[in-house]
Amino acid sequence: MANSNTDKRITLAWSGASGAPYGLRLLECLLAADYEVYLLISSAARVVLATEHGLKLPAGPDAAKAALIEHLNAPTDKLVVCGKEDWFSPVASGSAAPKKMVVCPCSAGSLAAIAHGMSDNLAERAADVVLKERGQLLLVVRETPFSTLHLENMLKLSQMGVTIMPAAPGFYHQPQTIEDLVDFMVARILDHLGIEQVLVPRWGYDQRK
Ligand SMILES: Cc1cc2nc3c(=O)[nH]c(=O)nc-3n(C[C@H](O)[C@H](O)[C@H](O)COP(=O)(O)O)c2cc1C
Repeated sequence: MANSNTDKRITLAWSGASGAPYGLRLLECLLAADYEVYLLISSAARVVLATEHGLKLPAGPDAAKAALIEHLNAPTDKLVVCGKEDWFSPVASGSAAPKKMVVCPCSAGSLAAIAHGMSDNLAERAADVVLKERGQLLLVVRETPFSTLHLENMLKLSQMGVTIMPAAPGFYHQPQTIEDLVDFMVARILDHLGIEQVLVPRWGYDQRK
């Protein structure tokens, strides 16, 4: 892809699976790590965000960006919210797309669309670009139970080098709050992206929080 390993740009897609707090917290951490984040939000993700977090994002990308920046108190110059059919976004082309992408949370529908290269909206296209350019794609899939179809789609993508990270936080760090559970997942995602994190103590090391 067009970027080096030191490139601090990433694509983050929020789809309509349960787990909006994971996506929000991940966005917050990526911005805090000084990443430029291209954020793609599906229609269903907006519904889930409102349902689970009480955050109702306004319709357009610019208004949504303003609302998120206010909500997170984040830097304005690092967040790019893209429209669902903004085909001129850098994430739509292998010549310009960030080489890393996370779909968090990832619905079964988005999983299927990515596994079959549908490219029917910008998030699906962005994932297809990362796949064809041999970049790093992480899917934080959330559904239970998984059907054979879900499992087949995950296997297919895993065999292509995609990291499948079910939204399944552990309990061995003795979480006290929902935020602790969210941080467990986000810490594992950041680890896989190679981004320094101190959200959760590492197994076998002292508490670092
Ligand atoms: C509150 C809420 C929770 C949902 N939770 C899930 C879920 O955990 N997993 C899933 O695959 N779909 C879930 N769905 C259904 C998806 O949002 C729906 O299939 C949608 O079409 C996915 O589209 P998208 O992948 O483009 O966002 C949920 C929907 C709502 C409204």
